[in-house]
Amino acid sequence: MSYKIGVIPGDGIGHEVIPEALKVIAATGVSLDTVDYDLGGERYLRDGIVLTDDTIAEWRGLDALLLGAVGTPEVPPGVIERGLLLKMRFDLDLYVNQRPFLAPDGSHDFIVIRENTEGTYAGEGGFLRKGTPAEIATQGSVNTRMGVERCIRYAFELAASRERKHLTMVHKTNVLTFAGDLWDRTFNEVAAEYPAVSTAYNHVDAACIYFVENPQRYDVIVTDNLFGDILTDLAGAVSGGIGFASSGNLNPDRTSPSMFEPVHGSAPDIAGQNKANPVAAILSAAMMLEFLGETDAGARIRAACADTESLVGSTTEVGDLVASRV
Ligand code: IPM
Ligand code: MN
Repeated sequence: MSYKIGVIPGDGIGHEVIPEALKVIAATGVSLDTVDYDLGGERYLRDGIVLTDDTIAEWRGLDALLLGAVGTPEVPPGVIERGLLLKMRFDLDLYVNQRPFLAPDGSHDFIVIRENTEGTYAGEGGFLRKGTPAEIATQGSVNTRMGVERCIRYAFELAASRERKHLTMVHKTNVLTFAGDLWDRTFNEVAAEYPAVSTAYNHVDAACIYFVENPQRYDVIVTDNLFGDILTDLAGAVSGGIGFASSGNLNPDRTSPSMFEPVHGSAPDIAGQNKANPVAAILSAAMMLEFLGETDAGARIRAACADTESLVGSTTEVGDLVASRV
């Protein structure tokens, strides 16, 4: 059997890291039936297309999507981010963004579960009197009980399946007293259903210190969309670098295909030079295989990437090396 995968290399180094991820999957023997989608800033500059509803409808028939990176300096901020990446996350209801972090020396091993469809990313807000000296801009944070609860529930299930069974909620309940209160109550109510999972709470500013000084304290973390965005860049930086940070945008209910992508961006400064680290894309591919039930192939890819110090060389050399090890 063969999985139907939509592949979106995107922009910049996306074109370089995705072929390496596909090369490594091929080396595992798992068979993919891939469909390429030319989307991103470069495509938008050519013909103005970002992502149509017809393409989204087509994707519903796929098993998963693999994305490289999107973003081009010539396109104004927000066009591709909101029109492509966030549209994928929202329209396909990819409500969990799962981002694992492993220290190169194995001293920490934690997973951030970032709520992926709400918060400040929802796009609530607007301008009043724009362009005048009295202009007003508001940007709200949308938090639904349903949205918060399903994400927290996923995090508890994940924590319960791990050895340490520890879950930390990160928020800013001392200042964001409306959203924070909803998160806090939901977290405590769901916690009562998981007596085997020990819990903790950190304010997001304190979590930044712990990420740098004592990341060993974490097992699974659950947090909102914007805190999760910021924290996972920091987590990447303290876990060998952003070049190793992988992610899965998951629809745990499997009512639509999940999407897997490295945490990094399109890196226009190093694009086209065969210099980008393909490991983040390769580990995202491993997560995709595991989500599809190919746990053995996923584990073999992870093992092949474990000795990060040995993964040096050009993009293609690192891809070849990992492929030779799986
Ligand atoms: C990420 C990225 C995106 C986000 C951007 C490109 C919209 O930074 O996946 O972390 O903010 O979610
Ligand atoms: Mn980010």
